[in-house]
Amino acid sequence: MKFFVDTAEIADIRELAATGLLDGVTTNPSLIAKSGRKILEVIAEICEVVQGPVSAEVAATEYKQILAEANVLRKIAPNVTVKVPLTPDGLKACYALRQEGTMVNVTLCFSAAQAIFAAKAGASFISPFVGRLDDIGQNGMDLIADIVQIYSNYPDIKTEVLVASVRHPIHLIEAAKIGADVATIPANIIKMLYNHPLTDKGLAAFMKDWAATGQSIV
Ligand code: G3P
Repeated sequence: MKFFVDTAEIADIRELAATGLLDGVTTNPSLIAKSGRKILEVIAEICEVVQGPVSAEVAATEYKQILAEANVLRKIAPNVTVKVPLTPDGLKACYALRQEGTMVNVTLCFSAAQAIFAAKAGASFISPFVGRLDDIGQNGMDLIADIVQIYSNYPDIKTEVLVASVRHPIHLIEAAKIGADVATIPANIIKMLYNHPLTDKGLAAFMKDWAATGQSIV
């Protein structure tokens, strides 16, 4: 399962990239706004730090304008993935961009029917927002299970299921159990994933007992 980080904060991206465990980055207009930086500058810097797919979202909603903005974004770096909304114009643009070999992440997916259309449009990634479905009393992970099952029925579908709007470690565990291809995770949640109090307690006990031996390995 691939781990992407869902942020435009370059310090967090650099820290996680240094672990060797980061496979990509997703951003969106809200995350760019939160960073306080110009989109072209911050995406270029992210693409220098992370070699995997870096999602940069268009701000346009009309077909021709989406293509115009996509043309600017994809020129930033070869690993830029153009992010488009799951709308008729967004899907039309996705199809056109994919014909030219541009990676496309179709975002704001909330139903299996939408995901089928994104695959028909040749999307490189589909981004179902599990947390926002949970917020309205639905089970976002049920959507992931449906999409993974539907896609598995058609070997010619190459669209990767990119679980987005992740709010806690359980989303990640459930996504892995289902077999989603990617999860894009806020930096603070990634740090929750590898922390466990019993690990800390056990390590402290090992270090205490080792110190008592008076030995050193190097
Ligand atoms: O990549 C989509 C993600 O940023 C949305 O997350 O928590 O705003 O639903 P959230």
